[in-house]
Amino acid sequence: MLSRHQNDLITQTGPGTPGGRLLRSYWQPIATSEEMAPGAAPLPVRVMSEDLVLFRDPAGDLGLIGLFCPHRGTDLSYGRVENGGLRCLYHGWLFDRHGGCLEQPAERAGSGFKDKIRHPAYPVVEKGGVIWTYMGEGAAPLIPDFAFLTAPAEKRMAFRVIQECNWVQGLESSVDPAHTSFLHRMSGGDNRFFRESTNPELEVERTSFGTRMHSLRIMPGGERYLRITNYLYPNGTTPVGGEAPPVQGYQGRWYVPMDDVTHCRFEFFYQHGGTLDKDALRRIRAENVGPDRRHIRRADNRYLQDRDEMMRDDTFCGMGRYIPAQDAFAIETQGRIQDRTKEHLGTTDIAIIEMRKALLDAIARMEQGHEAPGLLRDPAANRFPDFICTADYLRDGEDGPGYCRRMLGATKEAAE
Ligand code: FES
Ligand SMILES: [Fe+2]
Repeated sequence: MLSRHQNDLITQTGPGTPGGRLLRSYWQPIATSEEMAPGAAPLPVRVMSEDLVLFRDPAGDLGLIGLFCPHRGTDLSYGRVENGGLRCLYHGWLFDRHGGCLEQPAERAGSGFKDKIRHPAYPVVEKGGVIWTYMGEGAAPLIPDFAFLTAPAEKRMAFRVIQECNWVQGLESSVDPAHTSFLHRMSGGDNRFFRESTNPELEVERTSFGTRMHSLRIMPGGERYLRITNYLYPNGTTPVGGEAPPVQGYQGRWYVPMDDVTHCRFEFFYQHGGTLDKDALRRIRAENVGPDRRHIRRADNRYLQDRDEMMRDDTFCGMGRYIPAQDAFAIETQGRIQDRTKEHLGTTDIAIIEMRKALLDAIARMEQGHEAPGLLRDPAANRFPDFICTADYLRDGEDGPGYCRRMLGATKEAAE
């Protein structure tokens, strides 16, 4: 349970809020590269309660500037891309990607008024199939070089979906290993790990990049099945599926507030073994997410719940087999901003408790004048030798941390 003040601290991210200052200290993904292919229309994006427009200028360079024209407020995402920038349709003011006003064609020639206009602008870079921005104060840190962002393009793919609730609810669902045995329980296949062992033993360890979570399931046949997932400071995670070992890949996720009641979930699919079937991923996505980047199953249609499907035990929730939509149901129905003064946390919530503590500690330290935690500034330090994300069987007598020591030792030896 959190106090109302603590709940406000972690859920509010608008300009000037402590939580917003924390998230603004890191690069944040705002759109996929696919959305901004050369020639794409300017894209309105809302990030931490700021309305912005992402566009490619005529040279092909990306810019991110305020959505509303500083003249009299018209939406610039409808504008014309020409003459070195983005031109407002109302009176023709022209802006470059740095927020400079290049032309005011209705003003008197040589008035100099345009030079007094500074429109908000933020830096943008492309990495890992998405476009990132830095909205913080001072020098930007580095974007972490996790493998799911830096691997060859054929091994990774990124999507985003909009969810109708506060970003912390999304993040919490991704650091909650216990819910997979219920919300995501389905007939068939590798789902047996979740179906046949419903009360995993959980353990968390602090790491250089956040928190490593171990969830150990003792299977009816006696196998000890361990999943290792991670919380990445401050709003990322790396979930892994319920596959039988050897696991070939995992996902990276980022939960980015659009405002305090809506967020974008970015998914980075990563396959380190074999090849990533991008066509299959696209097909599944198209079946489950509409052109408005929202799940087809949503509150308006009661997530298309089919109680016959539920009663047949095809799925536990009766909401189809697409896991992200099942998660969306769980987090959106907690309310647009969950009231955490009314919850009752159990022993399976230790990773959530740890993650909230990390956020609250970071906010408190920043309020005391310290820098946000884990900011990367040295390219030589932008590597994560203690990162593991997988599912595997433990050896006799081994526990989760012991497994990690064994695997990390093997990685180190291979590198030497
Ligand atoms: S409102 Fe944009 S140029 Fe006038
Ligand atoms: Fe989930």
